Amino acid sequence: MTIRLAPSILAADFAALGRDIEAVERGGADLIHLDVMDGHFVPNLTIGPAVVKAVRRAAAVPLDVHLMIEDPDRYLDAFVEAGASMISVHVEVLPHLNRTIAAIRALGAQAGVVLNPSTPPTMLSEVAGEVDYVLVMSVNPGFGGQRFIARSVDKIRAVRALLDAAGNRAPVEVDGGIDLTTVAAVVEAGAEILVAGQAIFGSGDAAGAARAIKDAALAVREGAAR
Ligand code: DX5
Ligand code: ZN
Repeated sequence: MTIRLAPSILAADFAALGRDIEAVERGGADLIHLDVMDGHFVPNLTIGPAVVKAVRRAAAVPLDVHLMIEDPDRYLDAFVEAGASMISVHVEVLPHLNRTIAAIRALGAQAGVVLNPSTPPTMLSEVAGEVDYVLVMSVNPGFGGQRFIARSVDKIRAVRALLDAAGNRAPVEVDGGIDLTTVAAVVEAGAEILVAGQAIFGSGDAAGAARAIKDAALAVREGAAR
């Protein structure tokens, strides 16, 4: 089991993205998480392929692009073209989920599926063998800095079990309210990719905060291996 830290630039300084990305990479970031919002699926508007492309130039690590948009199929090629290595899409907007997963993979990116807090793990049952990762939302998507929903811990466990039952070792990612007080519980439950925005970029020391969260996650892993 490998732990990967994916700082979300939603909480970074958009006027100094290069500097902030360099800081979290110094702090051990394994991925950069980018939140794409369309004002329809979620009530907020953020970034599109142009910013992903700029971040691609600034970052040394792979880009993890989280699409919170109503019609992701229309934009998959634009985001891969812009430099996304991983693309996740919400099951809540996709009537033909296996088609979308296949389309992401055909473009050469890893395909992730995302569950909102109110969406049950069973929504994954028919695609559990096909996904490259599953993202469990631990806040309602739309904004950074929200409070972690405690039920998400059991949800991570259930998703891990569902993937295992399908014979798929694909990692579970968790997104929303991850900080030093919540990280141990989600790693314990089986999360391997950890998104954190406010706890890292809102701390005043992005490199140090990234390092502290990653170390806390690795400590849980090491404890479990003993
Ligand atoms: C929320 C986004 C998250 C957000 C997480 O809709 O998907 O990636 O940036 O931010 P924090 O870690 O501040 O909850
Ligand atoms: Zn996200």
